[in-house]
Formats: sequence, structure tokens, C-alpha cells
Amino acid sequence: MADKNNFEVTPWDVEGNVDYRKLVEKFGTERLTDDLKERIYENADARNLYIDRDFVFSHRDMDKILKDYEEGNGFFLYTGVGPSGPMHIGHIISFKMTKWFQENFDVNVYIQFPDDEKFWTRDRSYDEVEEFAKDNLMDVAAVGFDPDKTFVFKNTEYIGNMYKAATKLAKRINNSVVSAVFGFDSSTNIGLNFYPALQLLPTFFEERRCLIPAGIDQDPYWRVQRDVAPKFNRHKAAQIHNKLVPALTGPEGKMSSSRPRDAIMLNDGPEDVRKKVMERAYSGGQVTKKEHREKGANLSVDVAYQWLKNLFLEDDKKLEEIGRKYSNGEMLTGEVKEILVDKINEFLEEHRKRRDEKGEELKEKMMYDGKLARRMWDRNIDLG
Ligand code: TYM
Repeated sequence: MADKNNFEVTPWDVEGNVDYRKLVEKFGTERLTDDLKERIYENADARNLYIDRDFVFSHRDMDKILKDYEEGNGFFLYTGVGPSGPMHIGHIISFKMTKWFQENFDVNVYIQFPDDEKFWTRDRSYDEVEEFAKDNLMDVAAVGFDPDKTFVFKNTEYIGNMYKAATKLAKRINNSVVSAVFGFDSSTNIGLNFYPALQLLPTFFEERRCLIPAGIDQDPYWRVQRDVAPKFNRHKAAQIHNKLVPALTGPEGKMSSSRPRDAIMLNDGPEDVRKKVMERAYSGGQVTKKEHREKGANLSVDVAYQWLKNLFLEDDKKLEEIGRKYSNGEMLTGEVKEILVDKINEFLEEHRKRRDEKGEELKEKMMYDGKLARRMWDRNIDLG
């Protein structure tokens, strides 16, 4: 339930209109400062749209990651997705962010598919979860990770290599911690009680420091990780957090596979996208054309403008022009939505092309045959 701030963010649900300033305080993370952004860009020798526009906005120990990198010790990346339906535009952001770090820092990536978690949390059969996993794996493959430096694994498949280390972690995490952090109670099934050990374990796959690009809703897991890591004499994991893309219909809650009508799914065709954006995207414009020309749009609640700003429109000048003309009433909602529809369709078309042409081959490599995957299948994960 939403708390006194009128919003609530957990790994399973987002309620209300999230105030990210307050959330940073509540979760105890840090805002990405301009200095830190510049230091990331200097080391990467590249800029990043999501960071530029503050959609990726918060972190823990990003400064330590950069220090490790600058001193030649390197780091590694870890992220994941729970196969609970087809993936949407919100899901892909942390993967694109992870790819950006891999591309510009040349580091290993580990991607977890917790099929077990989705079986435990959702009213789904294993067959359904496995079908979603198959489909989601193709989307992850289409992101374009380096197939020799990326390992993608489903928990139910890789568990043999992880189980011993997971038992060691599990022994150090007690029920009072998971109840306080995740709100587990006596009705929670015991699978979920154990699951945090499995989501934490990949942060220890290498001795180096781990950086996790993910939505801020996953943060509760990392608080437990940071609590338990010193007990094994290992690094606390660093994170870089993205905000959560809301549903098309407005700022409340987050986009979710369980509400596909209000989400842009990665498999939506050009006409689906047009229809959803035109009919469902919440507008900050005025009701009548006359009123709009007089008063202009409220950009802060306008979904089309916010999506262009946060996710799709790289061109700063163009964005500034749209913002100016839309907020003074020169541009109408329909015109701004048209620009967004084209941008989304361009993005999805490229994604689908990579998925169709390369998805299968890349997936096999990242799961089984690539250099890192082969090494990981030979390893028994150890926590000392
Ligand atoms: P899941 O499947 O809920 O989400 C996968 C990733 O997508 C992010 N995300 C979003 N980002 C922006 N806008 C949204 N509307 C939105 N919805 C979801 C999530 O924050 C996440 O980064 N338990 C995890 C799977 C997991 C994982 C991990 C995630 C296992 N290991 C390591 C991150 C890092 C889950 O069910 O995520």
C-alpha cells in the first residue's frame, strides 16, 4: 500500500506518483551529481542519453567503480529480468544501460533470468514461465551484448553451479531481515523467502566490484547484499538506478506487462504503437484547441513530451523547440504524439531486425557457447 508519501516502490509493484527526490532519501541512495556524470563520460569517452536527461538518476558507490576502473582493477556488470510476460519499453532501459557500460568500459556482463522467482510470485505454471523466458531471451539478445563477454542464465538451469554458494548466503540472511526489507509475512511461500540469496549471488561472481544497472525498484535486494557482503569479505555491490517508466495513461504506478494496453511492448507493430499513443497517452494539453492555443500544455505531466525527453529524442535543440512551442500553445498534442510515434517505431523496428537476424545465434552464445558462458559452466561458484 502507498505510504504517507502517497507512493510506494517495491520490487513487485509501484503505486502512486513517485517522487524520486523523496525516494532517494527513503532508500538511502545518492543522486548522480554533475561531477560524477562528467567523470563517467570522461572514462567512457561517450555520453549517454538516459544519464544526460536524469532518467538514470541515482547510484550507490559509482565513484568507487570509477576509481577501480581508473586504477586498472576493472569491475563487472550484473542485471536481470523476471520472465513474467512479453517485455516492454521500460524493461529494456536497464539492458541498454548495461550494454552502454560494456561497450565503453569493455567489461563482463552477467544476466539472470529468475524463472523460479516468477513461478513463486505469479499465478503461472512452469510451462508459461518458460515460454516467456524463451521470448525474453531473444529480446535481451537483440540488445547486442558482446557474446564472448556475457553470460545469461536461467536459475533453474544454472542452479547446480550456484547452489552451494547460495546456501552459504542463505545461512547469513534471516527472516527478520527479509520481512523488514521485502514485507514477507507468514503467507509468503518459502520459495520467496530463499530467493533473495539467488538474486544476490551473481554480485559475487567475480572478485572485482559489481555494478548493477537496474530500475530503482530492485534496490531492496542490494540493501541486503550490502549488509551481507562484508561477512564474506567481499565487495558491496554498486548500483546505478533508472526511474520507472509509467504507464501510457499517466504518472501513477509503472508500466507493466500485466497491463499491455497501457504499455508499449517490444513486439508491438507500427499500427499498435500509433493507436496506443494516440488513444491512451496522457496529454498535458488543454481540452479545446482554442484553450490550448491560449494556455499551452503542461509538459511535466504530458506523456509524449516526457518520453521524448527521457527516452527517445537525442537532439537537445529539437527538444527545446518542442518544449517551447508545446508549452506556449503553438504545437498541439497530436503533433507531439506523431513525433513520438515515429521515434518509438524507429526504435522497435531496429530492435526487431536485430532480434530476427541475430537473436538465436547470440542467445546460444551468451547462454552456452561463448567464451564467458563456457567458463561459467565449468565453474562451481564459491564464496570461500
Ligand atoms: P523485472 O522483470 O520486474 O524487471 C527487469 C528490469 O526492468 C526494470 N523495470 C523497469 N524499468 C523502467 N520502467 C519500468 N516500468 C520498469 N519495470 C521494470 C527493473 O527495475 C529491472 O531492472 N527480480 C528481478 C529480476 C532480476 C534482476 C537482477 C533485476 C534478477 N536479478 C539483477 C535487476 C538486476 C525482476 O523481476 O525484474
